[in-house]
Amino acid sequence: MTALALLGYISAALLAQVIVAILVTALRPRPSLVDPVQGRSLPNAAWTGLRAFRVRSREDEDDATSQTSFYLEPVDQQPLAPYRAGQFLTFQLELPDAQGQVRRVTRCYSLSDRHDPQAFRITVKRVPAPRDRPDLSPGLVSNHFLDRVAPGAILQLRAPAGAFVLGDDPSVPAVLIAGGIGITPLFAMARAALATQPDRALHLFYGVQDRRELVFEADLLAMQQQHPNFHVTIVQSCPLPGKAEGDSFHATGFIDVALLRRVLPHGRHSFYVCGPPPMMASLVPALREWGVAGDAVHYEAFGPASIESPEQGIAAPLETPIEIQFVTSARTLSWTGADTNLLDFAERHGIAVDSGCRSGSCGTCETALTAGEVGYAQPSSFEVAKGHCLLCVAVPTGDLVLQA
Ligand code: FES
Repeated sequence: MTALALLGYISAALLAQVIVAILVTALRPRPSLVDPVQGRSLPNAAWTGLRAFRVRSREDEDDATSQTSFYLEPVDQQPLAPYRAGQFLTFQLELPDAQGQVRRVTRCYSLSDRHDPQAFRITVKRVPAPRDRPDLSPGLVSNHFLDRVAPGAILQLRAPAGAFVLGDDPSVPAVLIAGGIGITPLFAMARAALATQPDRALHLFYGVQDRRELVFEADLLAMQQQHPNFHVTIVQSCPLPGKAEGDSFHATGFIDVALLRRVLPHGRHSFYVCGPPPMMASLVPALREWGVAGDAVHYEAFGPASIESPEQGIAAPLETPIEIQFVTSARTLSWTGADTNLLDFAERHGIAVDSGCRSGSCGTCETALTAGEVGYAQPSSFEVAKGHCLLCVAVPTGDLVLQA
């Protein structure tokens, strides 16, 4: 063998090694991330934008079939990265409006169970649509789910998001307070906490009108039997005739501070509240008045924010109105301070803005702000892009030019 041939063999061998090394690196599973909550490896990161999911199955959760769970698996069949219990999914759908015109609508639903790498679960309740604004009704999408979304349907979803999640410190007992279908994120929190923080004390207060509205009842009973540190108090505001306390519920009326004082042991707790606006508007301020520290009260309301933060106060009408220019809609309007946020303001004037959570968490209402500045009454959990703002939680601090 000549020196030249030998050199050729060595070069070919080296090249083959390099190719093999490149292939091994490319085909190796992506380095796993670490789940900060559960300390486990994550199979992959959450996605950006929309991802297609197929409805694997649906399951009615009450006798009236007005509350139904949907199990959603990714069309790409890649495992789902863990989310934090309490977070929600954002759905983008194309639905016909009252005139039969197909419109894009965005809605958020809490994940209603702890992480499963194969499928997400949401639980949706039928909502009667108000006659005057069917286009804004949360019932538009919820009822579409219950009436038309069948196994096999394909849905477009954004990744789990939201800051309404259980704190990590297992030494602080958690008090989970749910009103109606507000049980969904709290049930997920309870399931996750019992799996990952089995020694943590958990108190669930679940308010419904009567037994027919209860969901996950069998699961809650089983969880209570298996975990002596999990305590459930079911409250019915209007029990069915012939039913008395002790007969599948523990108290009559509404969840209030008096009930919490009666049931909870003395000591420090973290509170997590999710329910309809009247419950949130009364209970969250009452917890603060009771002396619970602000950072120990976590809440998520349905739809528009219904709780005034202590800093907010009642806005006085502005002496000099602020000018808001909506460039895309070719409208310039006067902000007088009568609206809680720019999303309400835009909608009240017939300017269509896509929205989802309406509480600063999903980013759907993010809008380019080409002039002026906005303020936020509460910190949003969504990271807003530079030069943009979240209309659902923003108020103008001066004249604005918005790309909407
Ligand atoms: S609608 Fe979700 S952030 Fe505004």
